[in-house]
Amino acid sequence: SVPSLASSDGFLQCLSAAIPKQLLYTQSSPSFTSVLVSSIRNPKFSTPGTVRPLCIVTPTNASHVQAAVVCGRRNDVRVRVRSGGHDYEGLSYRSARPEVFAVVDLANLRSVRVDQKAATAWVDSGATLGELYYAISKASRLLAFPAGLCPTIGVGGHFSGGGFGMLLRKYGVAIDNVLDATLVDANGKLLDKQAMGTDVFWAIRGGGGESFGIVLSWKVKLVPVPPAVTMFSVTKSVDEGAVDILTRWQEVAPALPEDLFIRVLAQKQVANFESMYLGTPDTLLPLMRSRFPELGLNRTHCKEMTWIQSVPYIYLGSAATVEDILNRTTATRSFSKATSDYVRRAIPKDVWVKIFAWLAKPDAGLMIMDPYGGKIGSLPDSATPFPHRGGVLYNIQYMNFWSAATDGSAQMRWLRDFYAFMGPYVSSNPREAYVNYRDLDLGQNVVVGNVTSYLAGKVWGEKYFKGNFRRLAVAKGKVDPNNYFRNEQSIPPLLTTK
Ligand code: FDA
Repeated sequence: SVPSLASSDGFLQCLSAAIPKQLLYTQSSPSFTSVLVSSIRNPKFSTPGTVRPLCIVTPTNASHVQAAVVCGRRNDVRVRVRSGGHDYEGLSYRSARPEVFAVVDLANLRSVRVDQKAATAWVDSGATLGELYYAISKASRLLAFPAGLCPTIGVGGHFSGGGFGMLLRKYGVAIDNVLDATLVDANGKLLDKQAMGTDVFWAIRGGGGESFGIVLSWKVKLVPVPPAVTMFSVTKSVDEGAVDILTRWQEVAPALPEDLFIRVLAQKQVANFESMYLGTPDTLLPLMRSRFPELGLNRTHCKEMTWIQSVPYIYLGSAATVEDILNRTTATRSFSKATSDYVRRAIPKDVWVKIFAWLAKPDAGLMIMDPYGGKIGSLPDSATPFPHRGGVLYNIQYMNFWSAATDGSAQMRWLRDFYAFMGPYVSSNPREAYVNYRDLDLGQNVVVGNVTSYLAGKVWGEKYFKGNFRRLAVAKGKVDPNNYFRNEQSIPPLLTTK
């Protein structure tokens, strides 16, 4: 039910009493729009038709976050939390349906405190991955953290859904390296790992954003990297044998030593093999000659650099500097739609021929394929909510882009049709998907009696979490039985009697 205007007034009064007024932006504040769009990554959700928040709160300490939740509960106004604003469906700042809600934007809560001796760090949710990586590199050139590639992603949303990048084969998902966290629950209580209990601490490490409360900070284990890593990028067109090489890549890449990660970007009639190796060309070249000679890697392809230099190199281009990863304003302004798959059986060569025909169509997008195996595949599916582990060969992300000049319908249709075509060749029962590549086409919550339905949630929930979905719903039932924290794909509470 949509709360009455009176409860919105009550909410704003409650907030004004608890939070300095310069941290509160109502729709009538002159800077409301600039604060709202400050971290909107996908302009698709910044249109006149977008359901916008009643107000935005920008806390500078934990008590402000607690107050926002207490005021929201008291006045029946929900809050959505935003860290980096990169959600593919914009759920951190917009609602898919009419709803009165507030945004708690954590951009001001972004400190990173590295303990170099212990090789750990406390990072606040509002920090970007770039800020985390930069702070680690200032403390030591031999330490790193395994998370995503895009430096403007927020730690809060990213860790909430798992988080992986080029170190995934060596060190797993970001949340495999989380040791502790602080959480503001639906009662406005600030909890650490001990206080939140085993089930909730398990759930916040990959169970998706928004469901369990507002995670304020995370204690992470830093991982060792060598003084230099080797990067390479080799491009093969269909005419140069891309189909055969990709067919082979599917079996080779997930079985390589963990120090070697080779992903593929397929677009138009080209496959680009992008790699990071935790070592020097002297050992990489013989390894590639014996394991993947089809790629034809030679020394001229290889570029040695420090791990921190690899961050701007891979995402911002070879001209970017390490300081550029501190830039919080997002550069790309294109509209986009994405979805994902997991592949457990290599796709036959004749199907790759058809895939490249899909990529050649007008309005086609691209595929990004990240190989698994190694550490990410070595943990049991139930170790964390992120269940895509043993037996996964690789993850596929499908993306398509357009500009403000079109409505994107042709691009979205291509993505949906291509996704349908891929069905027989990817994981099934359930067809797995990665929650951080959020796609509302996979299903949305149905609210029954003011609580989201567990049964309806299974439709999308088992794709993201497989058998872990039920345990997530039980954890939700413990920490937020009234379902205060919710969005179109939040975990529904399952109230059990045990
Ligand atoms: P945002 O602030 O939008 O939050 C995402 C969700 O989490 C929302 O539902 C939000 O309410 C919730 N949330 C946010 N902060 C929270 C908190 N503190 N506590 C509880 N819930 C919270 N992924 C990946 O694994 N590897 C990669 O390399 C990339 N690359 C990439 C590039 C680009 C350009 C984009 C747009 C996205 C990616 N991603 C990715 C996906 C990314 O990991 C995913 O979108 C994250 O959820 C983004 O986290 P943000 O904090 O930025 O999002």
